[in-house]
Amino acid sequence: MIVMGVIIIPVTDSPLRYPGGKTQLKGFINELIQTNSIKDCTYVEPFAGGAGVAMSLLLTEKVQEVIINDIDSSIYCFWKSILEHTDNFIKLLEETPVNINEWYKQKYIQENKDKFSVLEIGFSTFFLNRTNRSGIITGGPIGGYSQHSQYKIDCRFNKKNLIKKILKIASYKKQITVTNDDASVFIDKVIKFLDKDKTFIFFDPPYYKQGKHLYTNFYTHDDHVHLSKKILSLKDYYWITTYDLSKEIMEIYNIKNQKIYRLNYSANNKRKAAELLFYSERTTLPETNHIELISNI
Ligand SMILES: C[S@@+](CC[C@H](N)C(=O)[O-])C[C@H]1O[C@@H](n2cnc3c(N)ncnc32)[C@H](O)[C@@H]1O
Repeated sequence: MIVMGVIIIPVTDSPLRYPGGKTQLKGFINELIQTNSIKDCTYVEPFAGGAGVAMSLLLTEKVQEVIINDIDSSIYCFWKSILEHTDNFIKLLEETPVNINEWYKQKYIQENKDKFSVLEIGFSTFFLNRTNRSGIITGGPIGGYSQHSQYKIDCRFNKKNLIKKILKIASYKKQITVTNDDASVFIDKVIKFLDKDKTFIFFDPPYYKQGKHLYTNFYTHDDHVHLSKKILSLKDYYWITTYDLSKEIMEIYNIKNQKIYRLNYSANNKRKAAELLFYSERTTLPETNHIELISNI
């Protein structure tokens, strides 16, 4: 973790910047896996996004294998291409200039995905994620279109560090599976076939309130209800689900295993917002310093 004045930037193993990314939960999730004595763990994220927790657990060898899923085909292509086209991805990263002209080219790829390969889409996703404000792929470039601001388009594009991260992840590729399904479909298609004793699942769906603004795909109220039924049906699995604090989500889930939590580390109030945590009947919560479990609801 790097402390700059009062703003704390969590260090992540993921090459993606992710709005609402949950890398900060890595310590807590590792404790969950240890407390529940899950040996040779397969760690699953049905809403993977930047997959910061998954990468950290795998790269520090706390889990045996990870399965990451996201409905967004741009995100899927990114993960697929760094794992299956590693050398070509690195070559693109080394050779592509990071300027506003290139930004328009990469945006064109993103808007015409049917004309491009997995590698081209994956690289364009990465390029726009690293050059757009807050990492939002559909957003505008850091520094604006005229690039007159103090921060320029390349200020989050440290090629050397990014190459290091990508190569490290690719060296674990035999232990990473990437899929591109709707999370509810993914539960039926993948999770239901996993060994319940060796699997830990972290559900991090789009926020109930802000999801629409942050992500390419978003959930309606009914989608959240549908998802909750699917998750709650996984009674014999180890899982947690996090959400923004909203009365609708509390009503939808309505189980005894729920807490309000706050991240413990942060001096930045914006990041210290309380969130909801739900967990399966099989899951025991650890004694933890990583997060502040504020109360039973
Ligand atoms: C809150 S973000 C996850 C962030 C992630 N935990 C991280 O740390 O980077 C939610 C993710 O869910 C994906 N998503 C949205 N709807 C989905 C769906 N129906 N099925 C699977 N993924 C979905 C979005 O594309 C987004 O990447």
